[in-house]
Amino acid sequence: MSLFYSLLTLSFYSLFFSLLPHPSAAVPFIGATYSPSTSATPSHVAGAVSSLGLDSVRLKSPDPAAVRAFLYSNASVLLTLPNSLVPSLAANRSAAFSWLSSFVVPFFPRAKISAISVGDDLLSSSPDLSPFLLPAIRNLHLSLSDLGLRQIQVSTTFSFLSTLSSSFFPPSSAQFLEPALSNVISPLLQFLGDTNSSLLVNVYPYNVYRLRTEIPIGFALFQEQRFNFRDDLATGVRYRNLFDMMVDAVVCAIAATGNDNIPVIVAETGWPGASGDPTEADANPLYAEMYLRGLVRHLRSGIGTPLRKEGVAGAYIYELFDKEEAAGKQGRTGKQNRSWGILYPNMTSKYDIDFSGSVGCLGGRDFLVVKLVWLVVIFVLASLRF
Ligand SMILES: *[C@@H]1O[C@H](CO)[C@@H](O)[C@H](O)[C@H]1NC(C)=O
Ligand SMILES: *[C@@H]1O[C@H](CO)[C@@H](O)[C@H](O)[C@H]1NC(C)=O
Ligand SMILES: *[C@@H]1O[C@H](CO)[C@@H](O)[C@H](O)[C@H]1NC(C)=O
Ligand SMILES: *[C@@H]1O[C@H](CO)[C@@H](O)[C@H](O)[C@H]1NC(C)=O
Ligand SMILES: *[C@@H]1O[C@H](CO)[C@@H](O)[C@H](O)[C@H]1NC(C)=O
Repeated sequence: MSLFYSLLTLSFYSLFFSLLPHPSAAVPFIGATYSPSTSATPSHVAGAVSSLGLDSVRLKSPDPAAVRAFLYSNASVLLTLPNSLVPSLAANRSAAFSWLSSFVVPFFPRAKISAISVGDDLLSSSPDLSPFLLPAIRNLHLSLSDLGLRQIQVSTTFSFLSTLSSSFFPPSSAQFLEPALSNVISPLLQFLGDTNSSLLVNVYPYNVYRLRTEIPIGFALFQEQRFNFRDDLATGVRYRNLFDMMVDAVVCAIAATGNDNIPVIVAETGWPGASGDPTEADANPLYAEMYLRGLVRHLRSGIGTPLRKEGVAGAYIYELFDKEEAAGKQGRTGKQNRSWGILYPNMTSKYDIDFSGSVGCLGGRDFLVVKLVWLVVIFVLASLRF
């Protein structure tokens, strides 16, 4: 009897509070990454981005034609400056001017270039170049200021697993690893705070799920499955999905450096729909669709993470098209052969997901009516019982 009563009260409260308006101050943007390939011309890509309802595109290795394709598009553009150019930009302001005059000046502001990532996961893929990273970022920022283009943010991308200590559960214990912390990340966070720019970090629940066998698949796929380590006792919050746990680990690692309130943009996230490695059974189209649908619903809800109510500033889904090499032969082991693309080469969507989030929104009228009816039913049941 008391259990019955508790359940009723619980349902009553959860329904009642779900009827209150969501604290949706700024809903994160959703974009996708694109690496120029031969199967799709840049103008087709710009069309696909807007028809998918994406707000932004991240060009992983831009060529001017790809930037040009986004002239007059509503989608904002995040450019990536290749790792190989980082030393010359660090040494020489005119190299920064010359890069900007090819990739930015001819297009901005007709193409909504929002930010430039200096390098792509440089700390893990080219660690020898890390001493050049901050000087290159500063030179690019100064050059943009000289050109009067202060609206464009300058930052760089990191990978979650290679920059955070392995003890990121619970999130409150997360820290950036040395020596990258002292040499690069601390001064970078200072720079980002001074220039109102965002930290860009790749967040792949898929990879953490594969490393930590105790994580149930539903927790990684936004199904709110129970998980023994989902409570963070230090902060007193409970996690409902792995994505939020990883984002809050980044938020805590930033806070541990004494830099609060640096916006976080997820530079890459996704779930592979296929893998060349037969042991990767979780790389399948069903899970990929569940992950992406859960991600879009979560971001569009504007609810944020337990520790940061505004959540991430935005997220880029990796990636629009499968890598061309995936079908090729040379140099790629089966293990790396994963298909992350959300579009087929013929530009049709692999998954049934509305990235604009305009349908299935919890604020819908029908949903409201259903909830109200349930409230009445629960109320009547409760009064009958007592
Ligand atoms: C951009 O958005 C405006 C207003 O929502 C719309 O009228 C216009 O067609 C869009 N342009 C493109 C290229 O999608
Ligand atoms: C600086 O960069 C410019 C343009 O990229 C190049 O012409 C020049 O030789 C460079 N100067 C030095 C000192 O590296
Ligand atoms: C940062 O943003 C705040 C609020 O948007 C603004 O007042 C401030 O001038 C900006 N600072 C810089 C350096 O752009
Ligand atoms: C990679 O995977 C794709 C499909 O997932 C397959 O068509 C291709 O043959 C695979 N390539 C290699 C080298 O395993
Ligand atoms: C596009 O390609 C996919 C996979 O090859 C196929 O299933 C689909 O029917 C194609 N759609 C069109 C419109 O050609």
